[in-house]
Amino acid sequence: MHRDDVATWVSDAQKAFNSAKDLNQLKTARIAHSGDKSPIALASRGLASLTPQEKITQGKIIGDAKSAIALALAGATSALEALRDSKILLEEILDVTLPSNRAHKGGLHPISIMKNEISDFFIEQGYSVEEGPEMESGWLNFDALNIPADHPARTMQDTFFLEPLESGIVLRTQTSPVQIRTMLTCEPPIYIISPGRTFRADELDSTHSPVFHQVEGLVIDRGITMAHLKGVLDNFARAMFGEDVTTRLRPSYFPFTEPSAEVDVFFSGRWIEWGGCGMVNPKVLQTCGIDTEIFSGFAFGMGIERTLMVRHGVQDMHDIVEGDLRFTRQFGVGL
Ligand code: DAH
Repeated sequence: MHRDDVATWVSDAQKAFNSAKDLNQLKTARIAHSGDKSPIALASRGLASLTPQEKITQGKIIGDAKSAIALALAGATSALEALRDSKILLEEILDVTLPSNRAHKGGLHPISIMKNEISDFFIEQGYSVEEGPEMESGWLNFDALNIPADHPARTMQDTFFLEPLESGIVLRTQTSPVQIRTMLTCEPPIYIISPGRTFRADELDSTHSPVFHQVEGLVIDRGITMAHLKGVLDNFARAMFGEDVTTRLRPSYFPFTEPSAEVDVFFSGRWIEWGGCGMVNPKVLQTCGIDTEIFSGFAFGMGIERTLMVRHGVQDMHDIVEGDLRFTRQFGVGL
């Protein structure tokens, strides 16, 4: 074995390691230049058959060569590993600021979410949810509810009348006609709510909208008293505004209830007018063919926009009707 041969093995190995483009090529070069069958390995095994003196000199040459080869391999390995890692970082980079082309699933309007929330609350207690038409007969919207012909609500300034005017059809101004529809078609006991869209000839401003929503409640059964009404309103208020709210009833007047009251909720440190309620006027029960000797009942009605605005501190009705997603999304999508 010649010293020059060994030097060539080392330089061949260094060249091969340094020219490897990736870890795979380096592996091939490693097997060729420092594997079991490489010239340096064969020479190393050949030392066994040498004399002790030769072993010392040759052993030193081969040992030095092996170290040089190992050093070159280690250098090439760490360089190629670093290259591989930086490539991975580049290839797998994720730019979270890129605009996505994911289609939005859409969602429910906060008013619809609240309508569902109210329905769920009452359905749990055995009420059913009734709907009535938005185009309603004047008789159901007014007369059957004991609202007299000369009531201000029955003027063009307050109510949308549909043509031809003789039809007597209006856009319902309240969800109360659903009470009449239900009593005309169902036998008591009756436990219903009716959330829905209502219309009044108001200009859109920060607290009014010509199109808004109410929820009506009606209970007709044996022995129903105002205490039941108060209990239902207390529970309903807690479901809407939180466990710690209280309600109070203030005497008021509605033609379809007797006695009538306004219900207020103590929320955020002040009393808020929430809706109207009362014991269903016997005149209304009689109009619907309900025996007032056996049955009595209560009713209530509140605005859903108003409930949403109070609960979430919404200052401007425009936010609710305009459909800006930045407003809507704050309430979740409700799907
Ligand atoms: N319909 C009434 C309104 O629009 C609200 C209302 C008051 C409904 C009293 C009721 C009730 O059922 O008993 O102002």
